[in-house]
Amino acid sequence: MNTREKAYAKLNLSLDITGRLPDGYHAMRMVMQSCSLCDELDITLTDGEYFCKSALPYLPSDGRNLALKAAKLFFEKAGIRGRGVYIELNKRIPVCAGLGGGSSDAAAVLRALNRLLGVGFSVRELEVMGEQLGSDVPFCVAGGTVLAEGKGEILTPLPAMPDCHLIICKPDFPISTPELFARAGRSTQRLSPDTQGMISALESGDLGGVARRMYNVFEDVLPRRCAGVFELKSRLLELGALGASMTGTGSAVFGIFADDDSARYACSEIVCHQMFSARPV
Ligand code: C5P
Repeated sequence: MNTREKAYAKLNLSLDITGRLPDGYHAMRMVMQSCSLCDELDITLTDGEYFCKSALPYLPSDGRNLALKAAKLFFEKAGIRGRGVYIELNKRIPVCAGLGGGSSDAAAVLRALNRLLGVGFSVRELEVMGEQLGSDVPFCVAGGTVLAEGKGEILTPLPAMPDCHLIICKPDFPISTPELFARAGRSTQRLSPDTQGMISALESGDLGGVARRMYNVFEDVLPRRCAGVFELKSRLLELGALGASMTGTGSAVFGIFADDDSARYACSEIVCHQMFSARPV
């Protein structure tokens, strides 16, 4: 038995840290958006072996791979024994980018196995399962336009982001997520995004209003070696983006464009390690 599933990248339209949780994690308030940049997973059931094949030598192919962890967890929760998965992962979402690639792959495995095996877990049940795998996994189960709070598991659907063109730029340096959380924890804050204003802009279908309110508090605590993030943001804005921001803990930066022509032009002008065009999904 086998199936194919897409795993969409996530973008943070806004990202705020609102406090500290008793377990040391940070309390978040984020407007999240899935986009058409995606990985593709070919998932085949096995008699108990777990293996993930991809073209990237640094992605683990064994049980350390988050997609395989998701499969293991799914079988456990569904009470299914003696099964494993062989996954062929066509990875297009850059890693260490803040685009939720690994989380989205894990969520795709949960959705795909639920469908393939006819288990019938609800979306909510899959999201709760996802919490055990990583903070962004619950959002990635259903995607769309969502307010995510808590560690990222308290999800409130929002009106869909107005259609637009997205340019995603991934510089050649990675940023460590735990390091950036630690830096944010040490900093005496600072400005916060106008999350409520962004939600109102979404409610009225005001793309400009959404773009103007893009703000990620991690940008305020970036180490100096990550100045490339600000250069990319400036470049996107100079070239006609309505708004631009880093996503998650970076290092990817994205810009929102109202039309295809200006997005294409920006894409042809910007020099960056990896670039993608996408639409909200
Ligand atoms: O949950 P996830 O594995 O994506 O988190 C990676 C790291 O990011 C955690 O080990 C923690 O240091 C930090 N984190 C946090 N607060 C969150 C989410 C992640 O401090 N809400």
